[in-house]
Amino acid sequence: MKTSLAALIPLVAVARAGTVLWNGFFNSSFTSATFDQWSWSNQIEPWQWYIHGSAATSKYLDVSADNKNPADTSEAKGVKTTIDGTAFWNGQTMERTEIIPQTKANLGSGHLFYHFSLKTSTTNPPNPNYEHQIAFFESHFTELKFGTLSGASGADNNLRWMIGGVTKWSTQLTPNTWYNFAYDIDFSSGMIGLWQSTGSAALTQVVAPQKGSPSTNSADFHIGVLRLPNGGTSAAAEDYFWSGIYVESGSITTSVAGPNAGAAPPGSSTSAPTTTSAPTTVTPPSSPSTTTTVATTTTVAGPTQTHYGQCGGQGYSGPTVCASPFTCTVVSGIYYSQVSSCIINIYAFRPNNLSHLQCL
Ligand SMILES: *[C@@H]1O[C@H](CO)[C@@H](O)[C@H](O)[C@H]1NC(C)=O
Ligand SMILES: *[C@@H]1O[C@H](CO)[C@@H](O)[C@H](O)[C@H]1NC(C)=O
Repeated sequence: MKTSLAALIPLVAVARAGTVLWNGFFNSSFTSATFDQWSWSNQIEPWQWYIHGSAATSKYLDVSADNKNPADTSEAKGVKTTIDGTAFWNGQTMERTEIIPQTKANLGSGHLFYHFSLKTSTTNPPNPNYEHQIAFFESHFTELKFGTLSGASGADNNLRWMIGGVTKWSTQLTPNTWYNFAYDIDFSSGMIGLWQSTGSAALTQVVAPQKGSPSTNSADFHIGVLRLPNGGTSAAAEDYFWSGIYVESGSITTSVAGPNAGAAPPGSSTSAPTTTSAPTTVTPPSSPSTTTTVATTTTVAGPTQTHYGQCGGQGYSGPTVCASPFTCTVVSGIYYSQVSSCIINIYAFRPNNLSHLQCL
C-alpha cells in the first residue's frame, strides 16, 4: 500500500472540532534519524531535538507504529523516549530526554488544547522512587509528575497532573495502559483544566478549569521526561511511549483518533521507511545560535550579564544579554546544582518559580 499525495489531500477537508495550530505527528517515513536533521542552524519543523544525553539519538528516541496508541489514526507512528545513566544534558544532574515543538505558530495565546497520549511498559518501567517531570512547560505552570515528589519519601506510584506544583488529578500508573490527555489552557484568562481518558475512549473533562499562571514561548512544551536525582542516580533505562501530540484552538477534539482521523496508513509494526532521506524542504535558518542557546527574546544593546548571572525567566527584568563568551541558557531553579545544595532545596519547593535563564 503506497501513500500518494492525493490520498493525503482529503484530510484537509476532514471536519474537526478545533483548528490545529501545530502537530507533532509521525508519518511513515519518520525515524529517529529525522530528529537529527534538526539543528540550531537548520530549524526544521515540527520538532526541536537538543535536550538529551551524549549517546546516539537512537538510544533515546525510537519512532515506530508499535509506539502509538492504536486508537490514534491521525498518524502512522508514535515515539518512545528513553532515559538512562547516559541521559544527562549540558552538565546537569538530571536524566532528560525531551523533544519540544519547532513551529512559527503561536502556541501561547487564546484558549488552546494541548493533546498527547502517554504509556509506560513493564519493560524499562519508570522507577517510583524518583520525581519525574513529564509533559511540562518551562515554568511548570502545568505538568504531569510520576514518583516520589522532591521532599517526600517512599515510593509513589501516582501519575499526577498538577497546576503550579499542586496535584489536581492523579491515578495509579498501570503499565501498558494508554493515558490520553488534553491540557485545557486559556492563556487569556489564566484558567487551566484537564481532559483525560484511557485506551480508545473519548476524552472527558476530569478537572474543570482553575486559576493558574499559563505562559509559553511556543517552544517549551517538553514532551519527554526529566528525572530528578532525588533518589540518587540509576543507570537503569526507563521508557515512555507517546502519540497524538498536537495543539488546537477553538473547541476540543475528544476522539483519540485525533483531528485527522483515518489519515494514517494502517499501522503496521514493520515500518518501511526508505533509506535515510536527505533534509527535504528546509526552512531558512533563523538567527544562528550556539548549541546551548535557547531561542528567547533577545534584546539589543544594554547592560550585559556576567557568568552564572540570571539573564531571563519568570518575573525577571534585568540584563538579558550575556557577556562574551557566555550565552543565555534555560535552566530551572532545581537545576542549580552548580550553585549550592541550599539553593537546590529552596527551588525544589518553589515549583511555581522554576523558570530561569542563566549565562553559561
Ligand atoms: C514526514 O514527516 C517529515 C517531518 O515532518 C517531513 O519532512 C516529510 O516530508 C514527511 N514525509 C511524507 C512522505 O509526508
Ligand atoms: C523567583 O525566582 C527569582 C529568580 O529567578 C527570584 O529572584 C524570586 O525571588 C523568585 N520569586 C519567588 C516568589 O520565589
